[in-house]
Amino acid sequence: MSDQQQQNMAPLEHLAIIMDGNGRWAKNQGLPRIAGHHQGVQTVIQVVDECVKVGIRYLSLFAFSSENWGRPQQEVEALMELLLQFLASQRQKMLDGGIRLRVIGDRSRLTESVRQALADAEKETAAGTTLTMVLALSYGGRDEILRAAKKLAEQAVSGSVDLQSIDNKQFSTLLDTQDIPEPDLLIRTSGEQRISNFLLWQAAYAELYFTDVLWPDFNAQELHKAIEDYRQRKRRFGLTDDQLQPGRQLPEGENH
Ligand code: IPE
Ligand code: IPE
Ligand code: MG
Repeated sequence: MSDQQQQNMAPLEHLAIIMDGNGRWAKNQGLPRIAGHHQGVQTVIQVVDECVKVGIRYLSLFAFSSENWGRPQQEVEALMELLLQFLASQRQKMLDGGIRLRVIGDRSRLTESVRQALADAEKETAAGTTLTMVLALSYGGRDEILRAAKKLAEQAVSGSVDLQSIDNKQFSTLLDTQDIPEPDLLIRTSGEQRISNFLLWQAAYAELYFTDVLWPDFNAQELHKAIEDYRQRKRRFGLTDDQLQPGRQLPEGENH
């Protein structure tokens, strides 16, 4: 393999996905929106399996945004019910497969029963080392950054932190994703080309991949297309090509 090819084999440790298009998929089939969400869960199951096969270590899934609370109550309730069913149905498989669940987002807005089920699943799967599935629920990037800024302000007021010493790395530890590496590749399905408040801080240098495929139609083959595309990318992190020669260290202090 040439140096050029080797350079393009960017490691893919963390894949993040904005799973969009469930409602449109259902509409196309003449079904209620929730049928699309049901089908979307089947895609999640397939994609998790494939990520394990490919050796991806972190899979972040945008399942419910801070803004999605504004959807009709019936849809919100159906989504929460679907989440509970998903956790119950996947429990054994996650334990057997070494899949660890991590939840990011503002849990205080979730109902007690959902909070409890999530906490139980996180605790039960905590020893999993094969794949960390990061579920973004009641999650918004701005909300997460705001909560982190408030924590920092509290620490500053109490005198437990020296503000001059706060850098990117330290600020990252206040985010919900504190111990999770930044996403390498961010996929969005359904043809929309926007971030919609997902991982605003963390995706600063993520490679973006947009596909018209609706989430319920996404599958292992589509995932491989995205990975193949990612493999052709050249990540520079603001540096020059010369600085990126194989073996050269990236500068300290950034969260690559
Ligand atoms: C994504 O599908 C799932 C959630 C946001 C929960 P949508 O429900 O947004 O589907 P569309 O965008 O209306 O087709
Ligand atoms: C983003 O999808 C949120 C999730 C996939 C959970 P939306 O459907 O809510 O995003 P917009 O409204 O089209 O930007
Ligand atoms: Mg949508």
